[in-house]
Amino acid sequence: MRFNDETVEQVKAANDIVDVIGQFVKLEKKGANYFGLCPFHGEKTASFSVSPRKQIYYCFGCQKGGNVLNFVMEYENFSFTEAVKHLADRVNMPLADMDAYKEDRSERDLKEKLLQINKEAAYFYHDKLMSEDGKRALEYFKDKRRLAGATITHFGLGYSSKTPGELYRYLKEKGYTDGELDKSGLITIDEKGPKDKFWNRAMFPIMDTNNRVIGFGGRVLGDGMPKYLNSPETPIFNKSNILYGLNFARKSREKFFLICEGYMDVIALHQAGFTNAVATLGTALTEQHARLIKRYTDTVILTQDSDEAGVKARIRAFPILHDAGLKVKIINMGAYKDPDEFIKANGPDAYRKCINESKNAFLYIVDCIKAGYDLSDPAAVTDFYKDIAERLTVFTDDAERNNYIKAVCREQLIEYNDLKELSDMAVLKTGRKPVPVSTVAPVRKQEPEIVADPKLLKCEDLLLYWMATRPDIIPYIEREVSPEEYGTEIRRLIASEIYAKRNRFVVSDFIDRCREEADRSTASTIFIGQMYRTEDDGIDDRSLEKLLTESLRTLKSGKLDQKIKNAGSDLLLMQRLLKEKEKLRSIQIKIESK
Ligand code: GTP
Ligand code: MN
Repeated sequence: MRFNDETVEQVKAANDIVDVIGQFVKLEKKGANYFGLCPFHGEKTASFSVSPRKQIYYCFGCQKGGNVLNFVMEYENFSFTEAVKHLADRVNMPLADMDAYKEDRSERDLKEKLLQINKEAAYFYHDKLMSEDGKRALEYFKDKRRLAGATITHFGLGYSSKTPGELYRYLKEKGYTDGELDKSGLITIDEKGPKDKFWNRAMFPIMDTNNRVIGFGGRVLGDGMPKYLNSPETPIFNKSNILYGLNFARKSREKFFLICEGYMDVIALHQAGFTNAVATLGTALTEQHARLIKRYTDTVILTQDSDEAGVKARIRAFPILHDAGLKVKIINMGAYKDPDEFIKANGPDAYRKCINESKNAFLYIVDCIKAGYDLSDPAAVTDFYKDIAERLTVFTDDAERNNYIKAVCREQLIEYNDLKELSDMAVLKTGRKPVPVSTVAPVRKQEPEIVADPKLLKCEDLLLYWMATRPDIIPYIEREVSPEEYGTEIRRLIASEIYAKRNRFVVSDFIDRCREEADRSTASTIFIGQMYRTEDDGIDDRSLEKLLTESLRTLKSGKLDQKIKNAGSDLLLMQRLLKEKEKLRSIQIKIESK
């Protein structure tokens, strides 16, 4: 979904950055800005600053910065769309009526209804679990699965009782139609009439990233079949892009995600403190899952079951995750079937140890496939090598693939040339040629050949800062420094926008247009001003004139020095430059008060 700029600006305008950040960080006013302990890195002295005037934040410690949307995205691990929605919700702004929603109304209304039905059902099942009817199920969770009361509440676990049609009657009373209930997947309606889908099962509500219940998994309490039953696909429930536990995992501060197989694994891991665990809903991992994960982390550790199916799942998942740009490692849980059983038997510390010892996924996969070859047979040896070579094509970067060839050879005692040759052949055969660098990652426009002098950049930043703070001075600066003269691409961009927009230049909107985190960081540091000394510390026009004049002279003289240095033996040019330098003394900013 896309929002237009106006919508985004309205949402930002309605959410003061100090209020929003103030919910999570204790802020104290110092000068014009607020300061607090940075929520993005551990620190003891406050170097995280928020500018109410420019509506941006910047951390002098970790260099993270941006506007209120960037903060919410970073802090809550939201996507851009989620952040806009979240902030709109926060101030009860009806985004639904804006052009952002392209879906037609009836479809949106149905989804809304299905979300309500699922939510009602989740409360219904949870209340059942806590009632007399749910006694056996609660015992199952507590005794058999060793879940604490707090865990049961946290995951909203429930119970669907043995009484037929209970949920149907409950939801009918709430006013939902048979048609809506049928579409929710929680009730099946056929010739024989309405029936609850889940019956005498331990219930696991499945939530989307915004904590909305979108479906359920239900487990038999004993050993019946099928062990698990899931909600069918509905307009709001699509297994190929949902990960169980993601609503919590995305807030985890760990640098990686744990990927496991079952609901119970996720719950056991979270209960043991590993709140970064997620699971697919009993289906194979898809590209959509991988992209979803990539939004929140760069590294995943696979901890699917140790049985044959689990190992297959790991091997299958690797190229998908790798293609999405994720680093992949694999945990060895020894003889234990899954993380749930491992933790039950050995505790969290032992599991943490497994995480620390997790192995590079590709090397692990080579180990696994090796078991399928009888290496005493020379023909099988070749097949084994070919198999590795084919799998190596997942590394499209030549250097990376070569590193893997070396590592595999080292581990498996294979002759480098043997594997290298097969690998080259496999690469040719699949046509999956090494992708040229320029299409892998769009390279930013090259910085100019002259390396920007930090001292001069400081002067530029001061000028940019003041132009954004006091638009009335823009003409004085514009006269002296053209946009192309600024030292880096991002500063040139800022300058040309400020010159073009004058007092309509809005810092936080400019930041929205910065694609690269580095650009956001630079823009934020420029516009937040110096630490502990900012515009409202009472600078008068005369002092400002002096400050600007000095900065301009330093900047221009520095630029001329660079040119003089490069002039070489061109005496004429040299003379002209020296003359220009003479003239610098006459630069004098005079602000005319209005
Ligand atoms: P527990 O026995 O409760 O610990 O289950 P588990 O999570 O260890 O089970 P398992 O490894 O057998 O299954 C992993 C996941 O696959 C479950 O969480 C379900 O999502 C799914 N699954 C398992 N059995 C079935 C089934 O019979 N039908 C369906 N649709 N999904 C299943
Ligand atoms: Mn299990």
